[in-house]
Amino acid sequence: MASKALGVGLIGCGFMGRAHSNAYRRLNNFFPVVHRPVLRAICDINTKKAQQFADVWSYERTESDWRKLMDAGDIDLIDICVPNCAHKEIAVAAAQAGKMIICEKPLAMNAAEAEEMVRAVEAAKVPNLVSFNYRRVPSISLAKQIIDEGRVGRAFHYRATYLQDWTISADVPQGGDALWRLEAKVAGSGVTGDLLAHSIDTAMWLNGPITRVVAKTETFVKERRHAITGKMEQVGIDDACMFLAEFANGSMGTFESTRYARGRKNFNTFELNGADGSIYFDLEEPEYLQYFEYMQLQSGKKVESHLTGWRKIHVTNSEHPYMNRYWVPGTCVGYEHTFLNQLADFLAGIESGTPAQPDFRSGLRTQKVCDAVLKSARSDGWIEVAK
Ligand SMILES: NC(=O)c1ccc[n+]([C@@H]2O[C@H](COP(=O)([O-])OP(=O)(O)OC[C@H]3O[C@@H](n4cnc5c(N)ncnc54)[C@H](O)[C@@H]3O)[C@@H](O)[C@H]2O)c1
Repeated sequence: MASKALGVGLIGCGFMGRAHSNAYRRLNNFFPVVHRPVLRAICDINTKKAQQFADVWSYERTESDWRKLMDAGDIDLIDICVPNCAHKEIAVAAAQAGKMIICEKPLAMNAAEAEEMVRAVEAAKVPNLVSFNYRRVPSISLAKQIIDEGRVGRAFHYRATYLQDWTISADVPQGGDALWRLEAKVAGSGVTGDLLAHSIDTAMWLNGPITRVVAKTETFVKERRHAITGKMEQVGIDDACMFLAEFANGSMGTFESTRYARGRKNFNTFELNGADGSIYFDLEEPEYLQYFEYMQLQSGKKVESHLTGWRKIHVTNSEHPYMNRYWVPGTCVGYEHTFLNQLADFLAGIESGTPAQPDFRSGLRTQKVCDAVLKSARSDGWIEVAK
């Protein structure tokens, strides 16, 4: 089936570099797509790390300057897995070179950068995707199905949390591998761009556009040593962010994110309450989706049931999203499969002519909400999300 070689040039061999490389390696074992990823080049500014990475994941060559990938005739797809501050320049160059692009989230440092990236990919007409991989957790895809089938009814409340605890110690430095997340000029923002961007993307996918926000952010540790310079530097990111949101469908939203919730490692949850039902998801139990069905169909009519109650759906049946690609009912898949599912959808979209989402334009919409959240936190008032 897989008959068309797809030359991959991946930039950034950190956490996401591994997650994406695993997806390229496994794709054709699980999904019947025409494209066959060939790992041509891994690029990282750290040449030693790139060489080790190339050995482990069997990349054909290494590069230390991403510009070399743009002129390479054997590379069709540029995969951007570097810190946020480098996304725009690489993506614009890749679009101008006519490459397909997968870009890690958040799309950019801010909406202005994201606009430029959208213009570049749309002018070049190159396939593009932002890696909001949580859409491809089978349970979250099932939530989307349930909502689209009208089972939740009129939406009233959307409630999202994304909590971690790894920066509580003031001794955690900022800057460098993984810790670039604490450095504003590299990350753009703190939990808003890093964690809430995921929650916002999921929320708008499930419940439609966010129109207005009011936010409060906090930076608990004001100064941290820089891991590279060794100097104490001011911390410019938001350590925690809470915001209220209005959705275009009239429902209300609350979003909370922090890296100071002791005991919470990657606590990503959401709940949607509607007139006819509710859904609840928790990434710490990713194979389950909770669903409360209030109205039931009896003789073709919706009626209140005396058997209402929360049910915890084990999302492992072959009729559940993506699950027919893996094992038998009752057996689970994990975090890494979200990247496989995402890659399969991206390539299937190219093959069918119906592009997969979220593309850069969709990523821009999330970026606009992030910008509005940060602006609101600075101004202490409601901010309209830019159209
Ligand atoms: N989808 C998700 O759930 C998810 C999870 C984690 C990170 N991310 C995103 O992925 C991106 C990368 O994050 P990470 O956790 O993999 O970071 P990381 O620190 O683990 O790895 C980043 C790598 O990029 C390299 N690098 C930095 N600048 C470079 C440049 N100009 N050219 C080439 N290489 C460069 C670094 O040397 C490092 O090896 C970020 O945008 C982040 O927000 C997404």
